[in-house]
Amino acid sequence: MRKKLIDIENLTIKAEEKTLVNGVTFHVCEGEMLGIVGESGSGKTLTVKGVVNLLPEGLDIKADKVEVFGKDFYHMPYRERRELVGRKLGLVPQNTVFYLHPMIKIKNQMADGYLHYNKVTKEEALARCEDIMSQVGLRDTKRVLNSYPWQLSGGMRQRVNIAMAMLNNPGLLIADEPTTALDSTIQKQVMDLFQNINKKMNTTMIIISHDLGLVKYYCDRIIVMYAGRIVEMGNKNELFENPCHPYTKALISVIPSLNIKKEERLSEIPGYVPEDGRDMEGCIFRDRCEFASEECQNPEKKNFVSETHYHTCCKF
Ligand SMILES: Nc1ncnc2c1ncn2[C@@H]1O[C@H](COP(=O)(O)OP(=O)(O)O)[C@@H](O)[C@H]1O
Ligand SMILES: [Mg+2]
Repeated sequence: MRKKLIDIENLTIKAEEKTLVNGVTFHVCEGEMLGIVGESGSGKTLTVKGVVNLLPEGLDIKADKVEVFGKDFYHMPYRERRELVGRKLGLVPQNTVFYLHPMIKIKNQMADGYLHYNKVTKEEALARCEDIMSQVGLRDTKRVLNSYPWQLSGGMRQRVNIAMAMLNNPGLLIADEPTTALDSTIQKQVMDLFQNINKKMNTTMIIISHDLGLVKYYCDRIIVMYAGRIVEMGNKNELFENPCHPYTKALISVIPSLNIKKEERLSEIPGYVPEDGRDMEGCIFRDRCEFASEECQNPEKKNFVSETHYHTCCKF
């Protein structure tokens, strides 16, 4: 069995008494590309922030196990933990359009990230920046380094963000909605880039997206989250050939077809992801589910379709 870079059991995140993420268990193996999908508000961002200890203040986190690179993450000394995150874990956070400081030239923002963890001169740091920038497909690297973020296109800025996350050659890269602000051609380029990094450098990836259609072509394994819980998990083929949870089916049905005409309306999933009552017993999707009945109030359990594929629906 491959080494687990992240191994989480029963992760729960609360704001005061309100449950936001409820009993999430998952792992990611070395070399894998894992997708986490679900509508906005499902708890995807909080889950990964919880894993790497970057939760906003005021949130309470509990878990039976949080192992990162084989180490008990929450019980190691603070400095060691920061060091581990800085060196081995690259993060492309959500809303990266606003992530770069607008008034500081790219070269200064980027070089600092490298200088912080490596005993090198500024010149050496800049050479490393140029090298990694060309690896993520940025041409004209000197000009980009000398630019302010607002002088670059959205696609270029996102490449800069990815280059920054890759500076220290992390073993694991977590990208939170990395293509959401980009148009569809650039989206594909950025996802192709992640795939290349994964193949060439064997970098393990966690890609978070609200768009199942996007991760479909790239991820080996997919986790579907709804209202703070995992409702289905499986290898990509298992999930697409045999989706079991009605929520997964609904997500698949709203994947836009590439041939769709502009005027055609996309079918949508009616209703919203609930903000409250996430710790209730039974299936949390039942209020939106066309198959719901009394049975759905019974405690949820994992129904295994195969060793690698399970879902939490009691109907299928
Ligand atoms: N700092 C916070 N305090 C209280 N609630 C929060 C906080 N951050 C996020 N939430 C709530 O937690 C839920 C999950 O949020 P998030 O992880 O950002 O979802 P996603 O990334 O799937 O869109 C949402 O209902 C959101 O309103
Ligand atoms: Mg998010």
